[in-house]
Amino acid sequence: MSLASPNVVNVKDLRRLARRRLPDAVFDYLDGAADDEVTLRDSEQAYKEVLFKPRFAVATPACDLSVTVLGHKLDLPFLLGPIGYSRLMHPRGELAASKAAGHHGTAYILSTMSGHTIEDVKAESAGPTFYQLYLAGGRGAAEGAIARVKAAGYKALFVTIDTPVAGNRERDVRNGMRQLMSPNWFHRIPYIPNILKHPRWLAGYMLDGMSRPFPNIVVPGSGPLAAIDVGAALQAAQVSWTDLKWIRQLWSGPIVIKGVMTADDARRSVDEGAQGIVVSTHAGRQLDGVAGSLRVLPGIVEAVKGKTEILFDGGIRRGADVVRAKALGADAVLLGRGYAYGLAAAGDAGIERAIEIFRADIIRTLTLLGCPSIGQIDSSYVAMRPGFRVD
Ligand SMILES: Cc1cc2nc3c(=O)[nH]c(=O)nc-3n(C[C@H](O)[C@H](O)[C@H](O)COP(=O)(O)O)c2cc1C
Repeated sequence: MSLASPNVVNVKDLRRLARRRLPDAVFDYLDGAADDEVTLRDSEQAYKEVLFKPRFAVATPACDLSVTVLGHKLDLPFLLGPIGYSRLMHPRGELAASKAAGHHGTAYILSTMSGHTIEDVKAESAGPTFYQLYLAGGRGAAEGAIARVKAAGYKALFVTIDTPVAGNRERDVRNGMRQLMSPNWFHRIPYIPNILKHPRWLAGYMLDGMSRPFPNIVVPGSGPLAAIDVGAALQAAQVSWTDLKWIRQLWSGPIVIKGVMTADDARRSVDEGAQGIVVSTHAGRQLDGVAGSLRVLPGIVEAVKGKTEILFDGGIRRGADVVRAKALGADAVLLGRGYAYGLAAAGDAGIERAIEIFRADIIRTLTLLGCPSIGQIDSSYVAMRPGFRVD
């Protein structure tokens, strides 16, 4: 399978290859969102309502894509965001993402719901690595993870606040995602015909030891959390602003609040001492019916720009989307599915291809706009269609 053009020209092509390689349960886990997927669709639609205003006939010789995030100079304006169960998509999972981020001079954010260890993931990259924290498994498990993250040299904690309970992802229910996780083969029987249609994925999954407990959620007294317990574990360990004070006692490095969708929560994050926020709907996978994250970005930027770093994600499928988010005031963005489709399609090589596509797109877009660097893009290069903004 070739990842080169014309077989793979854009991220949609990587999605098509991922769909072919993965069983329905895993593909829909990656691709799907909550309830009616209104937010998922609006996240992608919102980019179409931000129009460019180019400046032609201005020479822009070399295009500088670097940004600084939490004191780290990155060669690209996007980071690779936390994607739970990456190891289910491909045995290399988080290792591949960390390696590709380091190779391209950007940062990787490891999910709590990861299949490879904190230490192994860090060893794949010389670049900055950050850790996304859920309290799944309780404070004891989080305390252990924070100690390991610190010892391994991670540079920041991203505390996700938008998941007090797992969202209602109906595709997962229909496809038997939970049953696939179950160590009991009997539970998987109804889903086996579909799994057998994807022998390349199945061979990799079996050789990789199949359903494993989470190596980074180690519950004191009972060991690593079983993959199947996750929904219940998240619900039993909802994060609140009070927890942030407790986390602060264990972690002196930067804390970023992930899942901010209102100016009020952005201001609260600043008041609580967050060095950064991620404006995010969690890919539309939690509360369906919130606006696409791009629509709330201008209001949040007005509220907290200069007081905390503003990261952004949701629906980014093209380099031009990265440029739009930067133009509306984001300091940098996170890719989610944009790179995970590549991972699911072809492991390391698929992520490499995704990054190449984004990089080339961003350079071309900036050049066509007449803007010499990503640092110089601002709202004067774009116009929002009437009714775009949500405050
Ligand atoms: C399959 C999948 C798993 C995810 N797992 C996590 C997670 O474990 N922790 C987290 O904070 N966000 C998680 N996210 C959200 C992403 O970090 C990011 O916010 C989102 O994917 C961005 O939207 P996009 O996929 O449309 O680019 C996940 C997203 C997807 C698609």
